[in-house]
Amino acid sequence: MLSIKTEYPSKRRSLKELKGEKEMNSILVGLQWGDEGKGKVVQKLSRINDWIVRFSGGPNAGHTVYHDGKKMVHHLLPSGTNRNKLFVGRGTLVDLKILNDEIDEMSKIYDDVKKRFTISSWCRIITSIDRKLDLSFEKMKEDRSIGTTGRGIGPTVSNDANRIGIRLFDFFDETSFSKKIKYLANFAKPFIGMIDVEEEINSLLKEFRKIEDNVSEPFIAGNVLFEGTQGVLLDPMYGTYPYVTSTPTVPSFASYGSGIQADRAEKWGVFKAYVTRVGAGPFPTELSGEEGEIIRKRGDEFGATTGRPRRCGWIDLPLLKYASDLSNIDHLVMTKADVLNGLEKVGMCTSYGDTTLPYELENASVRLEYTKGWKKLDSREFDDFISAIEKYIGKKIEYVSFGPKEEEIKPR
Ligand code: IMP
Ligand code: MG
Repeated sequence: MLSIKTEYPSKRRSLKELKGEKEMNSILVGLQWGDEGKGKVVQKLSRINDWIVRFSGGPNAGHTVYHDGKKMVHHLLPSGTNRNKLFVGRGTLVDLKILNDEIDEMSKIYDDVKKRFTISSWCRIITSIDRKLDLSFEKMKEDRSIGTTGRGIGPTVSNDANRIGIRLFDFFDETSFSKKIKYLANFAKPFIGMIDVEEEINSLLKEFRKIEDNVSEPFIAGNVLFEGTQGVLLDPMYGTYPYVTSTPTVPSFASYGSGIQADRAEKWGVFKAYVTRVGAGPFPTELSGEEGEIIRKRGDEFGATTGRPRRCGWIDLPLLKYASDLSNIDHLVMTKADVLNGLEKVGMCTSYGDTTLPYELENASVRLEYTKGWKKLDSREFDDFISAIEKYIGKKIEYVSFGPKEEEIKPR
């Protein structure tokens, strides 16, 4: 029978904190429209952290990392290695089948994953009803469709706002759980028609039983790394609304979405040397011709979750500064700098005039400037590119990543 654990890790303070020593927790977020290479940086930072915590997003996320040379795309499990405890906090939307498949996949690399993993009983559950609603709403929006990942993200969050959502703790009482699924199916019927409710209930219960023993609010001791998902520009409140996702992507959500005190954590902001975007929405520096194609191919810019080709374009300094300032970033990391090696010139947006960011992007007039391209990262031309960005953002770029492997990152 159900026992909802109500102890909050946030009530606990580490000895370090009590002694007034430096907070060692970190929050890592993407500063563009997602796919900045966060997973790889998380993996690097995981070496100096005990816990890796997810606090937002859901199976729409796709963080590609290499564990011992083996490629693994994380959708719901935090991207930590074998020394980390992994916690999926309540701000994360969970598709149980995708979670279990990922646990199986990761267990082939680290056989103790199940022992190191906990998930909050307050997590919201995505059902097949929500996935169908997602596709149906997208169709109904016609030319206003967002190009979602189809993973049921928006509808699951709106169930929550409508107070008809399903949480992990609901599974502990099967009668009430079944009732709630029936409710949800009724609610969705005008949009998606009848669904086989019994089958939905049984398949969800089957998946739940596989992780039942992992459901708890853990006791947190040691350094915590909060792994953000998507990017600041996809935040539903601060991003390029309405072309955004439905769970917050800003660092200030880390405490709220995990239940773990994160106010004094150091903030890491990850961005690519260029910009990509999947799905619809304004993208003023987009390169639709050959240059975009070259970047897409070299950068392997295809969605890790959906396989869709990503739209590619030049780095956008006003938007990057907006995201960095909003997030109060302490450490900047540039990724995929190597992808631009060999281009004759590299563009960057340096102004939108008096446009209010990020809301009036659709018809904004973009000022593009070009810097001389570079053959290798160890060159004056690349240094000039870095300096131009640092000057604009007003912060130093501390690390540059130049390949997918964990060791392919250097301090500057
Ligand atoms: P949703 O999150 O599936 O509702 O999709 C909303 C928008 O966010 C779409 O444009 C998606 O392509 C985009 N999106 C969602 N998750 C990611 C991600 O992990 N990387 C990049 N784009 C994403
Ligand atoms: Mg991704």
